[in-house]
Amino acid sequence: MVTGATSGIGKATALELARMGATVVMVSRDRARGEAVQSEIKTKSGNDNVELLLADLSSQASIRQLAENFQQRYTQLHVLNNNAGVYMFSRQETVDGLEMTFAVNQLAPFLLTNLLLKVLKAGAPARIVNVSSGMHESAKIDMDDLQSKKRYTFMSAYGQSKLALVMFTYELARRLEGTGVTTNCLHPGFVATNIGQSGVGPAGRAVVKFIFSNFGISPEEGAKTSIYLATSPDVEGVTGKYFVKSIPKRSAAITYDESLQRQLWDECAKLVNLPVKV
Ligand SMILES: NC(=O)c1ccc[n+]([C@@H]2O[C@H](COP(=O)([O-])OP(=O)(O)OC[C@H]3O[C@@H](n4cnc5c(N)ncnc54)[C@H](OP(=O)(O)O)[C@@H]3O)[C@@H](O)[C@H]2O)c1
Repeated sequence: MVTGATSGIGKATALELARMGATVVMVSRDRARGEAVQSEIKTKSGNDNVELLLADLSSQASIRQLAENFQQRYTQLHVLNNNAGVYMFSRQETVDGLEMTFAVNQLAPFLLTNLLLKVLKAGAPARIVNVSSGMHESAKIDMDDLQSKKRYTFMSAYGQSKLALVMFTYELARRLEGTGVTTNCLHPGFVATNIGQSGVGPAGRAVVKFIFSNFGISPEEGAKTSIYLATSPDVEGVTGKYFVKSIPKRSAAITYDESLQRQLWDECAKLVNLPVKV
C-alpha cells in the first residue's frame, strides 16, 4: 500500500513496485486523479494488479474506512508506505479540528499503521516505510502545542510533523520487536514534486514550482530510498532506522529520547481515539 500515490515520490514508488510485480494498492483522496494514475501505472508496468482505494488522510473517519476497505479485500499486507504529506503555508484545520500538517504527516501514518497492524503481522515478514524529511533535523517538538496554536510557521509545523514521524518510527519498531514487521523512515532528498503548491496563491505557487523544478531531483530519484526500504534484501530484519540515499544515518538527537517517544505515542493515541496501549 502506497499513500499519496497520485503524485511525486508516491507515484514513482507505486510504479516501480508494480514493475517489480507487486500487487499495489494506491491510496488517493481523489477518484479522477487516482484512476488516471492507476491506469498510467498499469500501462507503464504491464501489471494489472494495481488497485485504487480512496481516502482523505486528513479525516480520521476516512482513514478508518480505508483500513476497513483494505481488510475486506486482503488478509495480508507486506509493505505499508506512509508517503502522503503536505506542506501548508497557512494554518488550516481538518474536519476533526486538528492542525492539517500534523494530522496528515503524523497522525494519519500513526492511525493507519495501527489499524493495519493485524494484516501486517499476518503478512510478516512485512515492512512499514515512513517518508519523513531532512527538515526534521532543525525542527523542535512542542508537546504542549502539537497543534501549532501558539505559533505557526509552515517550516515549524512541517518540521515538527516530520520529527514526530521519525520518533513514531523508533517507538513503533520497539513495539513490533519479535513480530517480523520492521519499520524504517527516510529523507527522500529535495525532490521536484507538487509539494507545497496547495494553500498558496498563483504567484506563490509559481515560485514554489520554480524552486522545486529547478533545484530538485526527479521523483524517480526521490523514490529510490522508499523502494530500497520496501524491497531490498539488504534491509531484511533492519528496523528502527532513518535512511538518506539508502544509507542509515543518525537523525536529530532528540528523536532518540525514548521517554519523549512514549509521550508522543500517548498524545497521538489520544488525538486519534485509539487506546494508548495498542
Ligand atoms: N519533495 C520533497 O522535496 C520532499 C522532501 C522531503 C520529504 N518529502 C515528503 O515526501 C512525501 C511525498 O511528497 P511529494 O514530494 O511527492 O509531494 P506531492 O507531489 O505533493 O505528493 C503528495 C501526495 O500526498 C497526497 N496527499 C496530500 N494530502 C492528502 C490527503 N489529505 N489525503 C490523501 N492524500 C493526500 C497527495 O494527493 P493529491 O494528488 O490529491 O494532492 C499526493 O499524492 C511527503 O511526505 C513529503 O513530506 C518530500
